[in-house]
This record gives sequence, C-alpha cells and structure tokens, in this order.
Amino acid sequence: AHFTAFENLVVSVDVGTTSTRAIFFRKDGSHVASHQIEYSTSAREASKRNSPEIFTPEGVAISLSDSVEIESRINEPTLVFPNPGWVECDPIQVLGNVIQCLAACLVQLATTEHDVQFKISAIGIANMRETTIVWSKRSGRPLHNGIVWNDTRTSKLVADIYQNESTERIDRVRELGGCPISTYFSATKWRWLYENVPHIRKAYDQGDGDLMFGTVDTWLIYCLTEESSFVTDVTNASRTSLMNIETHRYDDELLSFWNIDRSKLQLPDIRPSSYVYGHYHTPDLRALGTTQFHLSIDARAVLQMLHGVPIAGCLGDQSASLVGQLAVKQGDAKCTYGTGAFLLYNTGPRILASQHGALTTVGYWFPQLKSENEDGDEDCNKPQYALEGSIAVAGSVVQWLRDNLRLISNSKDVGPLASQVSNSGGVVFVPAFSGLYAPYWDSGSRGTILGLTQYTSAAHIARAALEAVCYQVRAILKAMISDTGSSPEFLDDRNLSAADNPLSSLRVDGGMSKSNEMMQIQADILGPCVTVIRSANHECTALGAAIAAGLCSEGEDSEPFMWNSLKEAVRMVSGGGDLSAEEPSDNTFHAELSDAKRRRMWKLW
Ligand code: G3P
Repeated sequence: AHFTAFENLVVSVDVGTTSTRAIFFRKDGSHVASHQIEYSTSAREASKRNSPEIFTPEGVAISLSDSVEIESRINEPTLVFPNPGWVECDPIQVLGNVIQCLAACLVQLATTEHDVQFKISAIGIANMRETTIVWSKRSGRPLHNGIVWNDTRTSKLVADIYQNESTERIDRVRELGGCPISTYFSATKWRWLYENVPHIRKAYDQGDGDLMFGTVDTWLIYCLTEESSFVTDVTNASRTSLMNIETHRYDDELLSFWNIDRSKLQLPDIRPSSYVYGHYHTPDLRALGTTQFHLSIDARAVLQMLHGVPIAGCLGDQSASLVGQLAVKQGDAKCTYGTGAFLLYNTGPRILASQHGALTTVGYWFPQLKSENEDGDEDCNKPQYALEGSIAVAGSVVQWLRDNLRLISNSKDVGPLASQVSNSGGVVFVPAFSGLYAPYWDSGSRGTILGLTQYTSAAHIARAALEAVCYQVRAILKAMISDTGSSPEFLDDRNLSAADNPLSSLRVDGGMSKSNEMMQIQADILGPCVTVIRSANHECTALGAAIAAGLCSEGEDSEPFMWNSLKEAVRMVSGGGDLSAEEPSDNTFHAELSDAKRRRMWKLW
C-alpha cells in the first residue's frame, strides 16, 4: 500500500498478577491493537488450557494458522501455589506471555486495514510490584520461581523480626525505605530464598557476581534487551525495602539490616520512570531452558517490527494507574481494584511519612518535564511521591468465591449475586488470605467469616466479600486523611464545605470497578463526602506506562516519542477536554445509605 500519512504508536505491556496484556496506543489514548492472556488461578484449570487464541480489538478470532503461528504448549500454569499461602510465578512463562501478547498485537496491526502507516516509537512496561526473581548471569536462567508479592511464606521471618529487633530499628527501616516490615516487600522474599534454597545460598556465598536480583520489570527489561540492561525504575525500587526513599539509591543501612552484600548479590541500577532503558530484541526462549514456548519463524518475523524500538517507560503497575488515571496533581487519589486493591494519594514532590498505617512510595519520576509546569506546580521533574494503602485481597476474593466455593461461575456475576440482598445479614468476611496489609499490617492474620446463621445465603457471603474490600478502602482513606492533617471524621460530616473537604472524589479503575453494584457499595461505605468516579478508560495501568514511554526521547535534543509534556498527554488522552469536567453519571457513584446504617456497619467491621 502507498501511505501518505504516518502515525506514531506507543506500545504498553501490563504484566499483572493474574493476566498480561499489550496495548498499542495512539496519541489520543485510543487503542490500535490489544491482546490479553489471563492466567488460570488453579492448577485444575491450568491443565485444561490449550494454545492461546488471538482476537482483534473487535473480538474477531484470528486463526493462528493464518499468517502467523505462535506455537506454545502452556501445560504449566504461570502462577503456582506449592503450599498454603505460597504464590509463585514462572519467570519464563511471564516473559513468554509478554512476547505472545506483543506478537498477537502485531498480527492485528498487520491484518487490519489502516489508511495510515504506523511507526512504533517506544515501549512502556507496567508490572506487578515486589515479586522477586533471582537468576544466574552466566546462564541467564532463573534460579527459582519468582516469589509473588502476596506470598505469605515469610510470616515467621517477619514475626521473628518484630520479636527480636528493637522498635527503633524496625521504625528506621520504614523511615528509610518507606516500607514497613512485612511479607509483602521484596527484601523478606530475598531473605527466604537465601535461607531456604541451597543453590542460591551457595551462589551468594561464592560471591563471584553471578547472582542477579530483580523485580518483574528488571527481569523483563534484561531479557528483552539482550541482557544489556540491568535496571529498575524508581517506583519498583521503592517496593523492595532496599532503596532510600529520599536519595533513590540503595541504602547501606537497609542493605545491612537485610544482610545483603552488594558484591555478592547484583542489584539493578535505579533509573527514572521515563528513560531509555534499552532497545527491544526478542529473546530466545529455548536458550532460557524452556520447551514450553517456541516461537515459530513467522512469529519471529512479526516481532521483527519491534526490534530496536526503545523501551522508554517503566512503572510499577499502581504507579502506572495513578498516571493513567491522570491523577498527576497533588491531592489526587485513585484506587485500582485488581488482584488486590491499591489506593494512591498523590503528595507531589513532598515525602509524607504516614503515622496511621499508609506507606510512602514513589508515584513516578519524569525527569524530562519542566521543573515548573504550566499550572505553576514546582519540582515536576523530580520524583513525585504518594501515600499508598495496599489491600492484599480484592479481585482474588471474587476468584475464590468462583473457584473455591463455586458460588458463581463468572467473576462478573458477583455484583448481581451480592445485590440480591440489601445487606450482608450480619455476616462479616475478613479475606485476610495473605495477612492484612494497610492500615493494619498484620502478616499473621488469616481469613475468617463471622456471623453465619441458618439464614445466611450465598448472596450474603458475596455481599460481605465485596463489603470487606470497601471497608478496607475506607480505613485507608481515614488513615491518609489523618496524615494530611485533616480530621478523619470528615467522611461522615454532611456539613463539610467544599473548601474543607480534603478529598471530594476517588477515581477508581480495575476489574472490580466494572461492577456497578460494587461501586455503589463502595460509595455507600465511604459516605456523603467522597464521590466515587470510575474512569471511562478501562486500561489506566497500560495507559500510564504508555505515557511514561511517550514523554521520553532518544536524547536530550530529540523529539519526545509521543507527547511534549504531561499536560499535553493529559489533554490528548482525555479527549482534549478538561479533567475537572463532570464525568458521565453512569460512572459516578454517590452514597445512598443513611448515616445511622453506615455507622452501624462500620462498627461491625
Ligand atoms: O503490589 C502488588 C501490585 O502491584 C499487584 O497489582 O494489578 O496485579 O493487583 P495487581
């Protein structure tokens, strides 16, 4: 075809806990191609899976035997649950899923007619955070399955630390790195690997520089750049408990607390979230020691279209959705309901240490922005921070209702089931499958259902499961608001003036947010002062990583890959409109519950 027009695209890869997707974005935030692989969460389902299918954005299936064949035998699940509370992922499978999603999108691009020619200008990555992978530099192969963020095998290690270390030392770890001591963060996972996996301990003790440590971003970028880039972005690094939250460097005191000698364990270089980390190259999955994935010659050919494209954006997925929700001004807050739920409150360049159980994290760092933006906000090119409230179990409790209790056959049925009843009938469900995170931080707690009677039905249990997530969001908001100096009682204050309201709206996204019933319960539990606003864009996480990549350029004097400024990106992807404009009412949820009832429910929780 003869094209007269060219259009830039940014590719975004979103590697979540239970699915991976790739989306090719235009400058206005619309999608040209997308593909998702959802992992099965139980071994039972995994063994039934066949080769993946490829769908166009319109949902039309493309036969794999068409122009491209991606052979894969996925007999092993991506997630593995070897013991109660243990959650592992196969790093090669994670990598293979990314490549498969990219190839599927490229097929869509090649098989759909467009009147412009596309240029793929940059790649951005958003990833589940904290998940810890160690591998050998010599062989390039993982030395163990990745230990996933919500794995609880380190509960005893955490309990021992709380028992044996002084409060000052424990507080110091949190102060320096932003992370409380918990099973959640990467440092405890590394300790477990060192103490329990003999060949990893041996590699460490040998101290010959072969042992590499990384989170999912580091592993992917390393593998996708011919092992030339061993890096992490600052948002991911802020989840390891190894990085100093102020200096953005590894902190000697933290390393010594976790017994890490950097000459024995290679740690990735910490970079901004928007940075040319390296250039794409399809790795040889077979050389990585797997027979599970084999890319056919045709798939390799289609992936050639990406060769040499800069990987220029990287964010932990919750930071990515903060950006993708366009919550880029101080005081903006978003909650993403994925496998877990994660509420981030943007504090701008200011580090706020929570006194109430939230944690300090890096929101994003786009160094190429002007130091002062068009709205007069200063230090925009410095790392921007957020208070974070993490909830370990959100979408995963719905999967549990589906796969373990078989109360529903599809996740989307949970809202209708829960709304068959107007309350939980006195049932309180605490889905602490992985302990409780913010604001409680209780690694040793486990799930429980209270208040069962003969009257209790499946609908009551489903409703109590959804309410549990919403109560934790309320508890986190109360904690954060206290940290900002406002009264946590504001949530129930009907007479609050707009000027005194520290948070008039909470932007939401992620799988569970698609349920109107769930969002209404959330609005009811938050109360009259906070409006829940669902993003019209369902792919905030992927969009955030695309924005990070699109703001970057190959060198200081070159044009950015997509957008000249954050403001331009925000304007373009929000349809040229104004963010403060009213969202369509079907995406806006206000509390409808009486104050007395809400108070009673909260007290019961
Ligand atoms: O901290 C864990 C988080 O990054 C996982 O995100 O989207 O897989 O629930 P998600």
